[in-house]
Parts: sequence; C-alpha cells; structure tokens
Amino acid sequence: MAESLEELGRIGADAAGGVTRLAWTPELFAAYDWAAARMRALGLDVETDPAGNLIGRWQAGSGSAVLAGSHLDTVPSGGRFDGALGVVAAIHAVEALRREGFEPSRPLWIAAFMDEEGARFGAALFGSRAFAGEDVTPLGDRADAAGTTLRAAMAAAGHDLDRVSEARRIDEVGAYLELHVEQGPVLESEGVDVGAVTAIVGLRGYRVRLRGQANHAGTTPMRLRRDAFAGAARVALALREEARRRDGVTANVGRISVEPGGANVVPGLADFTVDVRAATAGGIGELERLVEETVDKVAAEEGLEAEVEQTFALEPLELDEGLVGTVEAAAAAEGATVRRMPSGAGHDAMVIGRDVPAAMLFVPSRGGVSHSPGEYSYPAQVELGTRVLAGSLRRALGPDLVGR
Ligand code: HGY
Ligand code: MN
Ligand code: MN
Repeated sequence: MAESLEELGRIGADAAGGVTRLAWTPELFAAYDWAAARMRALGLDVETDPAGNLIGRWQAGSGSAVLAGSHLDTVPSGGRFDGALGVVAAIHAVEALRREGFEPSRPLWIAAFMDEEGARFGAALFGSRAFAGEDVTPLGDRADAAGTTLRAAMAAAGHDLDRVSEARRIDEVGAYLELHVEQGPVLESEGVDVGAVTAIVGLRGYRVRLRGQANHAGTTPMRLRRDAFAGAARVALALREEARRRDGVTANVGRISVEPGGANVVPGLADFTVDVRAATAGGIGELERLVEETVDKVAAEEGLEAEVEQTFALEPLELDEGLVGTVEAAAAAEGATVRRMPSGAGHDAMVIGRDVPAAMLFVPSRGGVSHSPGEYSYPAQVELGTRVLAGSLRRALGPDLVGR
C-alpha cells in the first residue's frame, strides 16, 4: 500500500512537496490512468462515466452492488492520502479478495468520484452528487481562478455537461464503504487503530463580497475609510469567536482576494469564501443565521455593501448502524482497536449515504494534519486499515446481505 501511495503521490506532485490534482485537469486524469490500469489488471470493467467518476466493476453474483470508493482529486498542495487512500485501499482489498479466491454473492464496484474537494470551481462532491442522481448542471457556469467554466473544463476533457444525468447509477448500489484518513488528532492521541465513523457534519459554503471605496492609504482619514478588507477581517474573526464558543462547530475563511490590490490603496472590494460546519441540523440552521447576521452587522458598521452567495449546502448525515457494526466486527477480526467517532470533514459518503446504507472507517493522521503536504499516515496503519476494509467488504459481499 505504502508503495502504491508513494507512486500515486508523484502524480501532481508540486514544488511545495504536496500534491495538486484539481478537478478536470491532466494531473487528475493521469491519476485516473494509474488507478484504471490496476483495476483492469484485476479484471474489473473500468469506465469514466459522464460525470467524470472513474468506476471499476467486479460483476460477480447478483443483486445490488457493494461500492467502495473515495476520490483522487486534491486541494491545492494537499497530501498524498486524502481520498487517494480510499481508492488505493479498495483496489488492494479487491486484490486480496481475489487472491484468497473469494466469490462475492453480489457485484463489487470501486469508485474514484470526481471533484470531491471542489477546490477549482466550488462545486464540491460533483461526481458523487451526479452518481446519486442530483442535477448538477446548474454548476456548469462556475468559473475557476483563470475564468474557465466547469462546462468548458469538462468539454476540454471530452465530457459534455448536458449528458451528466447519465451518470446516475445509485439505484444499482446496495451499500457503500469508504476508507479515509481521519484528518484530525483523535485516533493518534488515543492510540486507537481505526475509527468507525457514525456521522458526518453538515456544511455550508459561501462566497461573500464586501464593497467599500478604494482610496488613498495615506491621505484618507482612518474614520472616513470604507475599507473592504477590514470588513472581511472582522467577519472572519467574529465567525471564529462564535465557532470557538460552540461545541462541534467550525468556521473557516480559506480564500480571499482584495481589489484593486495596491499597497498604498485602501481596498474597495474583498471577495472571500466562508466554510461553516456543525454536527446537527439545528446547529447548521444557527450557522446560516449567524453568517448572514455577522456580515450584515459588520457591513453596516463599516459602511460597506454586502453580497452573500450560498455556494454549497449539505446536511449532516447519520451513517448506517448495521454497516458501522460491520466495520467494528472487521476491525476486531483483524485485532485492531476501534472507536466510534463523527467526521468533521465532508466526504462522498455523505452524498451516497443519503440514498444507500453507508459507513466509513478512518485511520490515524500524524499530528492530525491534512490538506497540507504534511499529511501522513504510517504504512502499518494504512495496511491495517486496508485489511479492515477488505474484511468489511467480505462481510458485505457474503451471503448474509448487509445494506439494501
Ligand atoms: O472539505 C472537506 O471536508 C473535505 O476534505 N472535502
Ligand atoms: Mn479533503
Ligand atoms: Mn477526502
């Protein structure tokens, strides 16, 4: 496993020591080619569907398929494990099942879903949403930093946004399993091998534009400034304070640009993203109000015009009790310690799990670091996680059907 992750990690390797494989880019499709070659070597039927999902099918047995998946796209200068681990582990798990002569009683599919991260177009979970039958065509006009739209990027890669509905295959799936790095400090700090994920947080994403007045940095009296950056800074800090006061809530401003962008110019426009998360529907509802109220309050006090666009919304999701139990049983059978835990990160499982019984398993992240070149999980932890995934699949594919 470690070797495979090493190899895959070289695809899209960037100068900062991280990995950058954004949606619909040659780097991502090079990673697809790498994975597809291994899936074909295992005798799987492999295709890239109209939504850009890479899928390998072991068409054994009958009935609804068990799907194991994750993603191969990354955030800018991300790590080698986020998403990649789940896809590579699924390939190695199939290899192990094949080697031991296991005969599945139902089909087993492996998926690398397109654009889980949403780093390029703000269209996170694009592939799994299309696979689940959601109409994602309205995202086609979203543009990246270079001004290229999602529709144009798909066309450049030989895909037609208007055919994306053909990617709907959720009806043929009966259960979903995803192995992922924890991306947090819990498992490492407690010395636990595996996390059996019980729930995934809800998310809201926003694009906020604050308009003030570009002006001279030297001659404009401080009290007369309509400084868009100062407004953005106040919004970011106010949301941070509120998130710190609440349990299981996070708030993040991950991208910001100001215009006109001169050292001696008071910023007239601040354009930034807001990512807020909570474990409960009630918590998410509160956050929605909080973002609106905070932006309105700061804009009024700073003499700014505010535009708040919600770019992303996903509800918190409880994962399937039966499948969580399957993961725990598989962990025990491998002699791995396991604990139940929620996920503070979003995943394709939160989309697929809306329609199909789903579960996730986590392996520890060194120092709890992720979305960074410093993301790391030890080979022994990755190997053990993969054996637990294989064990969970063996159970889900066995005669006593798990899922629907
Ligand atoms: O943002 C997330 O939570 C995930 O890493 N896509
Ligand atoms: Mn991620
Ligand atoms: Mn991920």
